[in-house]
Amino acid sequence: MRKIGVIGLGYVGLVTGTCFADLGNRVYGIDINTDKITKLQKGKAPLFEPGLEEMVERNMQRGRLFFTTSYEEGLKDVDFIFIAVDTPSGQEGEADLRAVRQAAGGVAELMSHPFTIVNKSTVPIGTGDWVAETVSANLRPEVEFSVVSNPEFLREGSAIHDFLNPDRIVLGSTDRRAAERVAELYTPLGRPVMITDLRTAEMIKYASNAFLATRISFINEIAAICEKLGADVKQVAAGMGLDHRIGPDYLDAGLGWGGSCFPKDVRALAHMAAIHGAHPQLLRAVMDINQDQRRRVVRTLREILGTLHGKNIGLLGLAYKPNTDDLREAPALEIVHLLTNEGAKVVAYDPVAMDNARNAITEVEYKNDPYEVARGSDGLLVITEWNEFKHLDMGRIQKSMRQAVLIDGRNIYDPDAMRQLGFIYRGIGRGYGETNSVAEELIAAKSPATVSDSES
Ligand code: UGA
Repeated sequence: MRKIGVIGLGYVGLVTGTCFADLGNRVYGIDINTDKITKLQKGKAPLFEPGLEEMVERNMQRGRLFFTTSYEEGLKDVDFIFIAVDTPSGQEGEADLRAVRQAAGGVAELMSHPFTIVNKSTVPIGTGDWVAETVSANLRPEVEFSVVSNPEFLREGSAIHDFLNPDRIVLGSTDRRAAERVAELYTPLGRPVMITDLRTAEMIKYASNAFLATRISFINEIAAICEKLGADVKQVAAGMGLDHRIGPDYLDAGLGWGGSCFPKDVRALAHMAAIHGAHPQLLRAVMDINQDQRRRVVRTLREILGTLHGKNIGLLGLAYKPNTDDLREAPALEIVHLLTNEGAKVVAYDPVAMDNARNAITEVEYKNDPYEVARGSDGLLVITEWNEFKHLDMGRIQKSMRQAVLIDGRNIYDPDAMRQLGFIYRGIGRGYGETNSVAEELIAAKSPATVSDSES
């Protein structure tokens, strides 16, 4: 059993701390947000993450997991201090390091026994060195310490599974023995460990996120070409993915990537490159394509409906991806903005993100289920691929709409089946199914609610 302090209890810190407690360590979670700590002390998770609350409660009951706002209490006799604070985007796209600076300062002021700082926050290359210098300059008394970079690769919504089954554990340090001590914490997982230097470990994190974002933007660009040429991007991606050199993951065309990581990290990497005189042309294209995915669906809707002014548009889903209530950099935010700017009335439903959405998006009327969203609408837009949207009674939905236009931003429906039900259907990069042109498709849509009917 090791004693671990975790500073910063967002997704990364809370999941990491809780999982380490579950592996038998004694863990102190520290956060300056008193509401969050009060909730956690009652065994309640302050964020939606499947399985997390049960794990928090269990480990608190077993006396292995504690929460506090006090560095003094949390760091008293720990061997490892994980820093997992936020590094949001600054004005120029750079990572904002204020919280890291504060955490490093707090640690330096308090520590009077040897310790290892493990940096989990995604930080610009070189921050590990800088943390080491800051702590060393402020430590009193002088005690031995090391800094290890341990980037995290958890996905929201499957964070516990990802922590317990990582593809690899990356550790970077100038002190190999310190890295090996941190590696021991992960021994029970039995997964490959890579030990490297600090800067390389920091770069592995950025390069991994940027590469995944690039794959998604790549397939979205292919999707746009598929639309023009009548090919189906889902099958194209499946065919590509069977090549073991390519693999099937992160090739789902859709509304593009959002969340608290990809957008911020791609921006920060491009910013770092630019200020150091490199030319991040690919990263810029990756960001541009992603931005355009959101506008593209609104354009499609406008083209089909003629105008968006006065139209009722329903959104299925709001979160940036399923199994989370997170709306940070979610495509929904921009899509709602674009729609309402053009005079559309927007209604929406999301299985778990509506509480957050009520604060973040005020121009929307929130409904209790997908059928209420569809009723009387002129267009339905799938924003998030929640499982519960995959088995809806689409016939009922089609009949209840004023104009049965379905824009499937996550390619969850079968285009032919939707067209047979009478929808004017558009996916992302799905060609035109069995019909060859928009005109033919409009004729094929048997619904009495086709655009020309309803507008005549
Ligand atoms: C991402 C990485 O996958 C994690 O490895 C990393 O630890 C994390 O960022 C982080 O840096 O903290 P996450 O943001 O939770 O994790 O979400 P993902 O599941 O990777 O999805 C990111 C976005 O890409 C979502 O908006 C999703 O809808 C989109 N996406 C994903 C696609 O559009 N197509 C795909 O094929 C896959």
